Amino acid sequence: MFNVTIPEHVPEELVRSFNVFEIPPTADIFAEISKLHESHPPIYYNSTPQLDRTFSRGAWQVTSMEYIQEIMRTPDDFSSVGISGFNELIQLGYELMIPVDTDPPVHGEVRGLIREQLQPNNVAKLADGIRELSQEVVQKCVAQGSSEFVKDVASIFPTQIFLLLMGMPMEEAEQFLEWEADLLQPDPNNIEKSRDAIRKIVARVQQGFEERRADPQDDFLTLLVNADLTEELRTGLGFNLFVGGLDTVMNQLTWVFKYIGERPELQQQLRGNPELIASSLEEIMRLHSVLTTRRFVTRDMDFHGVSFKKGDSVELLMAAGSLDGNAFENPHEADLERKPNRHMGFGWGPHMCIGMHLARLEMRILVEEWLQAIPQFSVVRPEELEFHVGIWGLNSLPLSWD
Ligand code: HEM
Repeated sequence: MFNVTIPEHVPEELVRSFNVFEIPPTADIFAEISKLHESHPPIYYNSTPQLDRTFSRGAWQVTSMEYIQEIMRTPDDFSSVGISGFNELIQLGYELMIPVDTDPPVHGEVRGLIREQLQPNNVAKLADGIRELSQEVVQKCVAQGSSEFVKDVASIFPTQIFLLLMGMPMEEAEQFLEWEADLLQPDPNNIEKSRDAIRKIVARVQQGFEERRADPQDDFLTLLVNADLTEELRTGLGFNLFVGGLDTVMNQLTWVFKYIGERPELQQQLRGNPELIASSLEEIMRLHSVLTTRRFVTRDMDFHGVSFKKGDSVELLMAAGSLDGNAFENPHEADLERKPNRHMGFGWGPHMCIGMHLARLEMRILVEEWLQAIPQFSVVRPEELEFHVGIWGLNSLPLSWD
């Protein structure tokens, strides 16, 4: 699958393999990632990296939380331009994940256009709508008497909230989900599928802009249409909001409900003390940080004793950062009231997730509604659960209750 030449500046002792495509799908992926703290140096060169969408180049991988944070807050040395790899994959001629794929000053300008709308006070206005959608999906599960959580809830719920935010019709949820899966769960044997999904999402976003130009509404599509942006940046921003808000929440929820589902005493505790749900979610996110990102080195340099060359790709294993014993006391133990809990789940520095307040609200309300409507539940055959590469998540999560 990989056909990688190791660059000359990479010393042999730093070439290590961590091939996520070969880990058995039923393994505990976060335990596997955590082992890297013992088995690998904090910076190593992986000939089988996770994020090269063309499967043709190696990359540095960084597991230390301190180093990851340093890289994320130094855009002059570690650029974000092109990190999504979508432009490279489809040869579109412009970057597609905006603001993810940008550096200062463009980054600050574009981010500034949507920052206010995603602040806690504005996001709170969506709470009633989110609660209604939560109740709908949860009630469907109540009626069924059991749930395949990914299909019934985790996929559809954030998709509906995204459509609500953007002002797009709910009926399109299934279609969006299909594109999303092709795009973000890369299949090394079928790169064309990802390319096709990108083209279709771009076309749908641009069609949305046309609709709002003709008929403005009180929604994000209209906000983007009215923003002072080039058409390319506008399309990229729409694309990023789509990709950023769907698969992340969906996959994060699979770990949240697996974790709670496997712990009846925790369910009881949260039912009795719903105010613990928010901090519990943060700790579950720390134990399961779903996103891996990367940066490109902008100049030859020494970084903590390792020679980076201009153009090198540096993958930041946020899951490892969140489980780093140098940053967190007892990193493998859940402390539901851990303070501070500066996990890497939402990233760090100038690109830190701009949708995090919305994501937190969605997840908290869903857990509240679930625990209110559904009695003690458990995971069916947990040993058979399979994870997927990309944004870490479970392929399916059967839940049952009496
Ligand atoms: C649990 C759910 C979520 C997780 C785990 C997550 C994670 C992340 C992470 C780690 C980054 C930083 C990437 C980097 O630095 O390269 C990021 C950025 C971003 N996220 Fe999220 N995210 C979540 C939910 C959302 C939602 C709901 C939205 C939509 C409103 C969203 C929109 C974005 C955008 C637009 C960026 C780019 C910010 C920038 O480049 O300045 N995310 N997210």
